[in-house]
Amino acid sequence: GAPVEVDVSKMEPGQLIRVEWRGKPVWMVRRTQEILDGLPKHDNQLRDPASEEPQQPEYAQNAYRSIKPEVFVAVGLCTHLGCSPTYLPDSFGEQVQGVSSGFFCPCHGSKFDMAGRVFQGVPAPLNLVIPPYYYVTDTTILVG
Ligand code: FES
Repeated sequence: GAPVEVDVSKMEPGQLIRVEWRGKPVWMVRRTQEILDGLPKHDNQLRDPASEEPQQPEYAQNAYRSIKPEVFVAVGLCTHLGCSPTYLPDSFGEQVQGVSSGFFCPCHGSKFDMAGRVFQGVPAPLNLVIPPYYYVTDTTILVG
């Protein structure tokens, strides 16, 4: 499939945009400083907080799992059986205590934080997959 170019300069704080790459949904989420500051606070509730699992690009193996902290890029498919998780931008509510936002898979209840890191105690075995991408310009991402 062809690479997909996305201009992220107009994204609002907290906004998620969805593009298609090789038949898969790819998400881009504009993370606020508040979201970024919150990430390390729940590391102890995660299965692989430092993204040490293999098969992830090098730029996903950091606290933000992204090239630029403010833009999160991930394949929008649950790592359990491939359902599409729901973005909960305002509140995880009862899903996860003390975590303000993330992704919830309606199929079997897997939960991921705002870096796509999977919580403990759910069926999904791995963090969300980070696709190959890079910045063509300061605000344009090429996926693929
Ligand atoms: Fe997401 Fe099973 S496919 S929890």
